[in-house]
Amino acid sequence: MPKNLLVTGAGGQLGNEMRNVIAANQGVFDAFFTDVDTLDITDARAVNEFVEKNSIDIIVNCAAYTAVDRAEDDMVMCAKLNIEAVANLASAARNFGAKLLHISTDYVFDGYGYRPYEECDEPNPKSVYGSTKLNGERELMKFAPDSIIVRTSWLYSPYGKNFVKTMIALGKERDTLSVVCDQVGTPTAAHDLATAIFAIITDKEWRSGIYHFSNEGAISWYDFTKAIHRIAGITTCNVKPIKSKDYPTRAVRPFYSVLDKSKIKSTFGITIPYWEDSLVKCIAEITGQL
Ligand SMILES: NC(=O)c1ccc[n+]([C@@H]2O[C@H](COP(=O)([O-])OP(=O)(O)OC[C@H]3O[C@@H](n4cnc5c(N)ncnc54)[C@H](OP(=O)(O)O)[C@@H]3O)[C@@H](O)[C@H]2O)c1
Repeated sequence: MPKNLLVTGAGGQLGNEMRNVIAANQGVFDAFFTDVDTLDITDARAVNEFVEKNSIDIIVNCAAYTAVDRAEDDMVMCAKLNIEAVANLASAARNFGAKLLHISTDYVFDGYGYRPYEECDEPNPKSVYGSTKLNGERELMKFAPDSIIVRTSWLYSPYGKNFVKTMIALGKERDTLSVVCDQVGTPTAAHDLATAIFAIITDKEWRSGIYHFSNEGAISWYDFTKAIHRIAGITTCNVKPIKSKDYPTRAVRPFYSVLDKSKIKSTFGITIPYWEDSLVKCIAEITGQL
């Protein structure tokens, strides 16, 4: 019999890709896709009622406060969604025997390292967003220690707002663009993350713990922008490399946030696409929509 799956924050980038992956694998789950208008996860009572009423077996939480700069001045809302709401989901999971898979971020690390971050590395977030995501992980493990946390980085998709779509739009509008070249990480196609999540939640065993997932490879935001323009056929915009100190942002971002993916690969036997291969596919989808 199909298991009952709840995907929260289903209107976001990852939520939409979860919807696509579930639709491509019909019959595996009876899935409920909710967003703030149908299930506000900051409402503990509503979350409990939903999980109980629909006999949810597995929750995949794709909802979060993701506006990294805005979070610096909106700490209360950010904490409500990234910490309190995660505790609500964890309590409901514990109360009604559901499993919970939650998404976290590379921003839990300070970015001072020079080798890919492993799950056991000490977090040291430097932003409100990163701190709230780390505290969300801790709340989750307090209420539902049997949960799975997948930390990811630089997520993009054809849905909502993201770096890839912004750089395509700016590349078409402008003659020049300055992009930081001293922050290195790995882009992640939300589609690839959703595919990995599907593999995890359909595995014969539920293997709790923290896992890192991004695409393969490592690049700077500058390199990423150049690749986006090349793949999208944008030739009229001169992209200039600049240092982070010359592009001040409200939130501090890690200089190096490459994630080590050995654990997720060996535990679940998944293969992870190289960032550029996934970018080509996503840009084809984005430009097809324009
Ligand atoms: N984006 C990245 O670069 C990135 C990097 C690393 C990790 N992550 C993590 O990956 C996960 C997915 O990110 P994403 O980019 O897919 O996020 P997203 O596109 O911002 O989607 C988040 C969704 O949550 C919804 N939401 C907001 N408040 C809610 C509430 N109270 N109850 C239920 N839903 C609510 C949002 O609705 P509204 O749009 O109406 O607010 C939105 O549809 C998050 O945990 C994020 O922290 C993201």
